[in-house]
Amino acid sequence: MRATAKAHTNIALIKYWGKRDEQLILPMNNSLSVTLDGFFTETTVHFRDDLETDSFTLNGEEVSGVPFERVTKFLDLFRDYTGKTDLFAKVESINHVPTAAGFASSASGFAALAAAAAKALDLNLSEKELSIFTRQGSGSACRSVYGGFVEWEKGEREDGSDSYAVQIAPQDHWDIRVAAVILTAKEKDVPSRAGMKLTVDTSVFYDGWLKSIDQDLRDIKAGILAKDFEKVGSIAEANCLKMHATTLGAAPPFTYWQDTTLGVMHEVWQLRKDRIPAYFTIDAGPNVKVLYLPEDEEKILARLRSVKGVEDIIVSKVGAGISYK
Ligand code: PMV
Repeated sequence: MRATAKAHTNIALIKYWGKRDEQLILPMNNSLSVTLDGFFTETTVHFRDDLETDSFTLNGEEVSGVPFERVTKFLDLFRDYTGKTDLFAKVESINHVPTAAGFASSASGFAALAAAAAKALDLNLSEKELSIFTRQGSGSACRSVYGGFVEWEKGEREDGSDSYAVQIAPQDHWDIRVAAVILTAKEKDVPSRAGMKLTVDTSVFYDGWLKSIDQDLRDIKAGILAKDFEKVGSIAEANCLKMHATTLGAAPPFTYWQDTTLGVMHEVWQLRKDRIPAYFTIDAGPNVKVLYLPEDEEKILARLRSVKGVEDIIVSKVGAGISYK
């Protein structure tokens, strides 16, 4: 009753921003991401009859408090599903996601945890079923079940049984690159959970955001299939700007951007003026991810490194879905 799974993180090109059900983690809108090979989590789950409680170590250190409770609550889903309500597990995770990278390690973390738990219990879940489990740990994690380009369908049903991710194109479909530009951050972020809730509840721009999603999704999917980089990049960048605009219309208003964030955005715009195709996207934090094609890598990285406040840049290719050891 022991298994090890590896999952990569992902970056959304069409953002998930807002829940219609906080408990089941059901989103207001479909989202679309690319899985990244540069950042991943490896997790071993060992269910044992002799344990009286779960335990969780991250990078070798015992975890307690809220992060531990999220893990044990997540394992409850598997205990309920199998009816083995007094079976507990030892969970050991190694995160290959630098904490400073501004990637929610929750995406790779919950995807690896779900996959290892399901395998340890011999559940033989389909990828769709695994994605439904994973979604309930962290929404964006349900997209990390697959490699390549992935869409999370919001679904309509109240029980969440039609809210899961599907693959749009496999890992080897298209070699694009994502540079995670790590910035000197001054303030602590508003966690994505709190930020999206405040936005759904109060932002005067939230309806406009929702209305724009269907068109963005249709266009970006066509662009991905046609490998049209300018189309995909410009839709992703505009979608990110719309998501961040909703935070400015919230009450109270807030933003994830810092001056260094704007510095990188302006450099990306300048790159395009210089006819070098590069586009940015930003999640619920100050760091910027820049999309580009492999042939422009050297020029783009040199320009990004020259921006004030840039501490580090980590480059990813398109990554794979879940794998097992
Ligand atoms: O799944 P969470 O709670 O980490 O939320 C992720 C939200 C964004 O990263 C901002 C967008 C996304 O689709 O990943």
